[in-house]
Amino acid sequence: MTQHGFRFAGLGAALPDKLLTNDELAETMDTSDEWIRERTGIGSRYLGGTTSGLATEAAAAAMERANVGPEDIDQLLLATTTPDYMLPGTAPAVAENLGLDCGALDIQAACSGWVYGLVLANGFLLQGQKRILVVGAETLDRMTDYTDRGTGILFGNGAGAAVIETGGGGEILGWDLGADGKYIKILWAEHGDTMLMDGKEVFRQAVTAIQRSANAALDRAGLTVDDIDFVVPHQANVRIVEAAWKRLGFTMEQTGMRLEETGNTSAASIPLALDKVLDEGRISDGDTVMLIGFGAGMTWATTIVRWAGDARSATTA
Ligand code: UT7
Repeated sequence: MTQHGFRFAGLGAALPDKLLTNDELAETMDTSDEWIRERTGIGSRYLGGTTSGLATEAAAAAMERANVGPEDIDQLLLATTTPDYMLPGTAPAVAENLGLDCGALDIQAACSGWVYGLVLANGFLLQGQKRILVVGAETLDRMTDYTDRGTGILFGNGAGAAVIETGGGGEILGWDLGADGKYIKILWAEHGDTMLMDGKEVFRQAVTAIQRSANAALDRAGLTVDDIDFVVPHQANVRIVEAAWKRLGFTMEQTGMRLEETGNTSAASIPLALDKVLDEGRISDGDTVMLIGFGAGMTWATTIVRWAGDARSATTA
């Protein structure tokens, strides 16, 4: 579809220091490690930090891995549901921290935001820019009620970032972006308040959205499920992924997960999982990789990429 190339020059991740395990959570809430693991696949989550701080740390790691300096970045896209302030956006602060002198824009598409960012980055590359920094960063502890059994078990903080550049033989083979505002009030928060969620409805809509978006991206790429080597889905609940995979025909063996360690980190979850998968040496240049985000809005976003760039050896991780 594109001639210009789409290369993951480097990925980076950042997690705050404070780890909250299920057992620790069960000290303040009527729940248990066993229940949370069985119903969600989550074992712990990280709390603390700031969105701009975590974003800066992840972005700096991605730039170091890509071996580029601030002058090499043409655009900063920051996907977040938890900006530092209501006004202004968080991207300008991150750009300042990194010493960037380029456009800096927040994307609010909830858990789909980072994949929206990849598609937007592709658009900037098509318009002649060379290198785009796409960051997903969240401090969801600021809008999570850790005494609520529905949401308190799920969410945590973190950030992931990628430097995307032209050339290198990679490309976006297919993509799909979508939104359905009928479902705003199945997962939402008023200004200054904590999140409210209809967990069962989010679960149902998420499975449908994943299936629909994956198929739309495959159609656009002229590919089938069998052509996909590896998938990294948004890390919300392992049962959502398993239910969607049953319908689509993917296996957990070809799936990148970091949910057990981090919980749901919304816009940060896919780059955080990707960073781990690269450390494990599970993606190589030339692989066909699908990334699927879904979440509040509802929003959903899928890209299928021919992978090029940051492909680490498991032995050097
Ligand atoms: O990025 C998208 C973010 N959102 C999501 O991914 C949410 C998707 N939904 C979910 O993950 C699930 O709906 C939850 C994990 C939130 C809840 O799981 P569920 O299987 O839908 O549980 P439920 O609300 O139907 O509750 C089942 C039982 C109930 O007990 P009874 O009535 O059967 O006796 C609940 O009271 O489990 C009980 N329960 C809990 N028990 C221990 C509900 N929450 C908990 C809990 N610990 N945290």
